[in-house]
Amino acid sequence: MPEPDELQAFLSRHATPYDPTTDTYRRPPFAAPVKAGKNTPIYNAHSYHTKVPPQGIVPYILHYTDPGDLILDLFCGSGMPSVAALMCAHPPTAPLHLVHDARPGPRYAILNDLSPAATHIAYNYCTPVDGEALKRAFERIKAAVKEEFDRLYGTTCDRCGGPATIRHIIFKQVEGRWYLRGEQVIEDGLGLVVEDEASAIAWLSGLLGNEPQTTGDLIPKWQVATRDAAIAKSLDQILEENFWREERTGRWRLPTKEERHKMSAKEEVAAQAQLRVIHRYLEGDLNRRPSDLELCAWIRFCYSREFYTEAVALFPHVDDTRVDAEEYRRVWKIVEVCRLKSGREKDCIPI
Ligand SMILES: C[S@@+](CC[C@H](N)C(=O)[O-])C[C@H]1O[C@@H](n2cnc3c(N)ncnc32)[C@H](O)[C@@H]1O
Repeated sequence: MPEPDELQAFLSRHATPYDPTTDTYRRPPFAAPVKAGKNTPIYNAHSYHTKVPPQGIVPYILHYTDPGDLILDLFCGSGMPSVAALMCAHPPTAPLHLVHDARPGPRYAILNDLSPAATHIAYNYCTPVDGEALKRAFERIKAAVKEEFDRLYGTTCDRCGGPATIRHIIFKQVEGRWYLRGEQVIEDGLGLVVEDEASAIAWLSGLLGNEPQTTGDLIPKWQVATRDAAIAKSLDQILEENFWREERTGRWRLPTKEERHKMSAKEEVAAQAQLRVIHRYLEGDLNRRPSDLELCAWIRFCYSREFYTEAVALFPHVDDTRVDAEEYRRVWKIVEVCRLKSGREKDCIPI
């Protein structure tokens, strides 16, 4: 943070007091479409929530300001508008071409933020550095965290079998089920925290993608992995619904595409049966009361099958004192989505 007299000196160098008799500033609204990707060295140098790629801000600064103007960014965050102001000295071609009558040249900036982390990041983004010193500092930190980093992100390349680093883990949801893309690169699925049905499926995919296993092989691992998880379904049920059992060996493995189709057909019949049970329960016609965890599983089922009205109707039956608070919160969120999707925004959901 500069001293007050430094700030005063900076202002007198770069700001002109407003004078209505001489001011001629006029700009039409800037109306060109701006596209800016995030995967750039500047953007990736340090993360910050709500950060905007600076090359996407450059056209606005080129349009609304002149070289030498002073920009006041009172909520600077990581300082991207100020980085953009500096970039205006030599603007990248793409943003430059968007601005009719652009006047390249450096602009100046004053940055302010409530958060010390933000001002630290922004200050360093906008201050020239010795590239070599920065590289040396980076190498020093990298060496210091290497062991921990490799433990967390190290893996084996599925193509050459050599050591590799995980860059992305992508989950995708297909027909209400969660899949882990690239599951073959995760050796045993142990990198995953199993906390609900979706992560249990991903965890099992990691295990069974490596080596088919019998239910007996899986039970002790399942008991350890799901110790702190809230999963209404049994291991058998999850295996049955998501994996393929080889008749000859009795081992479970990932299904092929063809096997998945067969499972979907079988699952459709099971889903219709499940829905009938839910309807009977909602109509007061079921001769048992499901547990609260089971009700949560029904809500998830209804959500994945797009039976939004049923999910919303089930939620008031869940007793929040009888399910884990975190599970209740997750299901409540799901129901909120169902409520919007079913067009029943007026209904009030107890929190
Ligand atoms: C949307 S972010 C700004 C992101 C920024 N444009 C960037 O390039 O990263 C909003 C910032 O406003 C800051 N902020 C919120 N309230 C504030 C306040 N009263 N005074 C100063 N900064 C504040 C927050 O700390 C946050 O960094």
